[in-house]
Amino acid sequence: MTHPSPMGPARSRSGVWEFCGNWYFLGPRAFYARQDLAGETRLELLNCHDTDTGFNLKVPSQRASRLRALCGPLSCLFPLPPAHTTSRTAMTLLSGASGLLQKVSLFTWDACLTLANLVTPNLKVGHVVPQGAPGAGGLWPEYIAPGEGDSRCCCPALNALANHGILPHDGRNIKFTDMTQTVRTSFNFAETFCVFVPSYAADVLHKNYKTDTFDLADLNLHNGIEHDASLTRQDTNYDPDQDKPYLPFINELLASATGKDANGAILTTADTSRYSSKRRAESRATNPEFSLDEFHKIFGSSNSATLLTILGGRVADLEPFLREERIPEGWEPRVRQRMGLTMMAFNRTALGVEMGIKEEPVQAHATVEESGHASAATGLRRR
Ligand code: HEM
Repeated sequence: MTHPSPMGPARSRSGVWEFCGNWYFLGPRAFYARQDLAGETRLELLNCHDTDTGFNLKVPSQRASRLRALCGPLSCLFPLPPAHTTSRTAMTLLSGASGLLQKVSLFTWDACLTLANLVTPNLKVGHVVPQGAPGAGGLWPEYIAPGEGDSRCCCPALNALANHGILPHDGRNIKFTDMTQTVRTSFNFAETFCVFVPSYAADVLHKNYKTDTFDLADLNLHNGIEHDASLTRQDTNYDPDQDKPYLPFINELLASATGKDANGAILTTADTSRYSSKRRAESRATNPEFSLDEFHKIFGSSNSATLLTILGGRVADLEPFLREERIPEGWEPRVRQRMGLTMMAFNRTALGVEMGIKEEPVQAHATVEESGHASAATGLRRR
């Protein structure tokens, strides 16, 4: 491997590789991302002996997300701020130190919250949503379905918050920090998750987590967080808006629930893995624009994990939540741990879902045009 600098030009097969503004840290090593005109991305190890002192920042394309899979999702939370003339060695030291520090503090904080959950009693049933917050005691603000001009996205939970007016009903000009706050109180995710995911979203949208706002629809950016083979949305190739639930998938998912308890049917980890396997295989076989890298697979399984943890897999609750993006009356998060669902605990469930996904190849016996992409779900057979 050569060790060029991000400041100087380098030739690729289809043109010049350009530094695209993102830095990644893997242990003690610093990498930077370069892209060529064809949008191909590569990661280069920083050579600390290089003496160049400036570079041009380019907006990173979605393909940079592949790099995140390589270096761990946390690394992209802390890209370097734009700088044109800073000494690269100083920059490496600074960015490495601040990036690492933030990563270490987030993980340490999360580990502390996980420990605290072990030694503190759970919140009492009926008291999971804090007093004074919308939804306290199961009393959620009125549900009003989205109307003309309201901004919505591919996330059922954020749409539900907007549908109940907990986030602005028009879904516009939302502060990332407000999203952190409302997700914390409404769903009892731990603070670490509530900072991590919105910060990550801000990063993907090239916005500042602390000061900027976004519209829900901004999150529909394909292969930002949004990805193909979702459980509640058609692929972007078929529905670029991504703002409405796709009922045939949701019905199929909920009908596949095999668990049961006193509250009725329960969607299990194995059920979500099985349905994700099907969605991935079918999308891969029928969608000519299909893409799903390792990073987005993990995001997909994490989304599934929210259904199993925060919603407890209860089909009776999942029906309004996924179909209408409505919080059921009297509902409260099923995670009752005092510090909320930490990333450590959550990742265990997400990993369980991902490990259970066996994407068997499927063969289309009807073209997408013949069958209609939606019914392609049934127009496929296992090889
Ligand atoms: C904290 C801020 C959050 C952000 C920025 C966010 C963002 C997103 C995005 C972009 C997607 C689309 C992924 C795809 O293409 O499938 C998504 C999906 C999803 N999110 Fe969220 N989300 C957040 C919080 C939550 C919470 C708190 C829950 C549950 C309580 C949740 C549940 C889901 C589910 C179930 C999906 C799945 C959809 C599918 O597979 O179709 N999200 N989220």
